[in-house]
Amino acid sequence: MTYRIAVARGDGVGPEVVESAMQILERVSEVFGIDFTYHDVLVGGAAYDATGNPLPEETLDTIRECDSVLFGAVGGDKWDGLPHELRPEAAILGIRKALMAYSNLRPGILYPQLKEASPLKNHIVEDGFDICVVRELTGGIYFGRKRTWEDENGERAEDVEEYSREEIERIARKAFQAAMGRSKRVTSVDKANVLHTSRLWRKVVEEVHVDYPEVELLHMYIDNACMQAVRNPSQFDVILTSNIFGDILSDEISMLTGSIGLLPSASMGDGRRGIYEPIHGSAPTIAGMDRVNPIGTILSAAMMLEHSFGLPKAARSIEDAIKKVFDEKYHTEDVFMEGGKTVGTKEITRLIAKNIENGAN
Ligand code: IPM
Ligand code: MG
Repeated sequence: MTYRIAVARGDGVGPEVVESAMQILERVSEVFGIDFTYHDVLVGGAAYDATGNPLPEETLDTIRECDSVLFGAVGGDKWDGLPHELRPEAAILGIRKALMAYSNLRPGILYPQLKEASPLKNHIVEDGFDICVVRELTGGIYFGRKRTWEDENGERAEDVEEYSREEIERIARKAFQAAMGRSKRVTSVDKANVLHTSRLWRKVVEEVHVDYPEVELLHMYIDNACMQAVRNPSQFDVILTSNIFGDILSDEISMLTGSIGLLPSASMGDGRRGIYEPIHGSAPTIAGMDRVNPIGTILSAAMMLEHSFGLPKAARSIEDAIKKVFDEKYHTEDVFMEGGKTVGTKEITRLIAKNIENGAN
């Protein structure tokens, strides 16, 4: 079996983290005898510079011919002045929409070895935490009507938050299904005390819940959820939320795990094809310096193996290799570890690759 992977390196640290993830996939290929082919596509500022379009048609064509997308990061000061549809971010938003990847899984796990790296006090993270944010990805304020205009009072702008029953229902189903394979708790995060969209969200989530009686459902306002995440993150199992709230909450939770550089994500629709990317951005200030943490992207590749290719054993081998490297106290500079050894992007990648093994079962 050969799996075709579209490789979207993008801007800033994107190319480096993607390179690391590809090295890990090559190691998995050797160890497990699985074949991958890689198909480079232009995205983001790099695509804009080369073609005048952050998401060229050719990129989408290649992606549609591939089994999955490995995505680095897009964006940078250089392109900040461009109109909305030409900004580098239009690439990732456009790919999500084109693949109808409405379901975004963002697991935030605190590794026991990294407890000291969490900004939370020891007594709060004593037992670790394992949260999966299920973020709606192709609707809401990201894709609602947008405009900037001028009237007699000066400049104005609007972005419309809009959700249909169908959009809420399908993402709620994904969250309950995820919870069934975990601790069977869903916290649905909204702002139903203020927003119409949130009230519809709550109603539909409750209706879908009827099909998952084993799962405990709790509703929480977004402001409270942000506070609860730092007060006691272990209370959460699956967090189900909208596009914008999920964007914000996943950054917060990532930091609680020690560094935003550690968090992967999987974005899928109803089929098997997915987009796999770290949740961090393009970090232009450290780009090209062998300083970026590639683990978020490497774990994204592991999610690709599991969710798109049905290879959980290969996925576990990557996660186990990362744990071994942490056991040996190696980490990149963004992570603090008591008595740790700081290494660069290439060296941490080499160490992870070296530790990948085909376990007995
Ligand atoms: C993310 C990013 C993107 C988002 C940006 C780059 C458009 O922040 O994946 O979390 O807001 O979805
Ligand atoms: Mg974000």
